[in-house]
Amino acid sequence: MKKIIASNFKTNHTRKSTREFIDTITQYMDDESIKNDVYIFPPTTALDQFNINENLNIGVQNAYNVKNGSFTGEIGTEQLDEFGIKTILIGHSERRHVIGESQKDIALKYNYFKSLGYKIIYCVGEPLEVKEEGLTSTLGYIFEQFDGIDLDYENLVIAYEPVWAIGTGISATIEDIATIHKKLKKKITAPLLYGGSVKLCGLQDILEIDNVDGVLVGTASWDKDDFKKMIYIGSKTGSINEKIDCKN
Ligand code: PGA
Repeated sequence: MKKIIASNFKTNHTRKSTREFIDTITQYMDDESIKNDVYIFPPTTALDQFNINENLNIGVQNAYNVKNGSFTGEIGTEQLDEFGIKTILIGHSERRHVIGESQKDIALKYNYFKSLGYKIIYCVGEPLEVKEEGLTSTLGYIFEQFDGIDLDYENLVIAYEPVWAIGTGISATIEDIATIHKKLKKKITAPLLYGGSVKLCGLQDILEIDNVDGVLVGTASWDKDDFKKMIYIGSKTGSINEKIDCKN
């Protein structure tokens, strides 16, 4: 397999628990000589200098498209540079639909961080009412989320995260994921992750779908022992025949 495994903490974990989490994962990856790419997106208040190995990337869930200035409540690249952060999530559904970022805002942000060479995990996905209209509407909606986005950017990873699956406990079916990923892969060459209620028990099945290069996980990744198991599954080549100890 050798898949990308990413954890989005969202508004969870403290400075202390983030450090414990990152130290545990670093140690685990060192001990097991894990070589696939792992990402952790802690809350910005927990950013710090971490002693991590080369396959572990710490990123931000959001930042403003500016170096510094008068943008109350935002952080810019001057603050990120302090912690050596060069990875950012852009276009996450919670920023689009809860915070209200428009495609124009998102494209501006994308182009700013692209110009600085950041690794960008760019998220797309349709709400339930669009999914219910069928595949053509779903793809049309997703393709509009590529407006203003350079899909040939070399440091790009895309995450397909249907809005109705995020934080709901209802993951997309294997068929849904396979269908959308196949269509998206006709348009993009960047690695393509799936996200939306990915759980430890179902992880291997998702990672085995054609055109799935990894996962972006929220809720189920916040427990460090479960996240270690996710990394383990993603680090293997081929199927794992052993039983992974998981509760859901
Ligand atoms: P979830 O979140 O795994 O809790 O659904 C995924 C995400 O928002 O990236």
